[in-house]
Amino acid sequence: ARVLVLNGPNLNLLGIRQPEVYGATTLEMIDAACHAHGEASGLAITCRQSNHEGVLVDAIHEARGTQDGIVLNAGAYTHSSIALRDAISSVALPVVEVHLSNIHAREAFRHQSHIAPVALGQICGFGAQGYILALDALAAHLDGGTS
Ligand code: DQA
Repeated sequence: ARVLVLNGPNLNLLGIRQPEVYGATTLEMIDAACHAHGEASGLAITCRQSNHEGVLVDAIHEARGTQDGIVLNAGAYTHSSIALRDAISSVALPVVEVHLSNIHAREAFRHQSHIAPVALGQICGFGAQGYILALDALAAHLDGGTS
């Protein structure tokens, strides 16, 4: 299966950005781990990142017909973007939402996700490992498992 790993705003600064919250792992390292895990589990992985909401919308549209599912960390757009949510509904691809931090244990404005209602599920609080868990969850779903 083909999976797009899509990261939103400020995630290009992982490793530098608030390491006490987001860890020391860089996005490059996360992308490399996703590629390695994809190879080991038969997934063709494409990684993209943008700080721009419209570029993320375009990336979701482009996934239609070219990808079988999406692992999405929309960063702060999670809490604000109806456009991203509508893009997911429009392409009707399975999406697993990922956050490095446990958004439910943080500020109230991070508790709401516009993505969650249109996602298969949400993985948060497990740091970079969350992307790998999300790939496994998506793979199981695409295999017709119960997840
Ligand atoms: C985040 C959580 C968001 O609240 C925040 O705006 C981010 C990163 C995470 O991965 O923990 O940019 O999505």
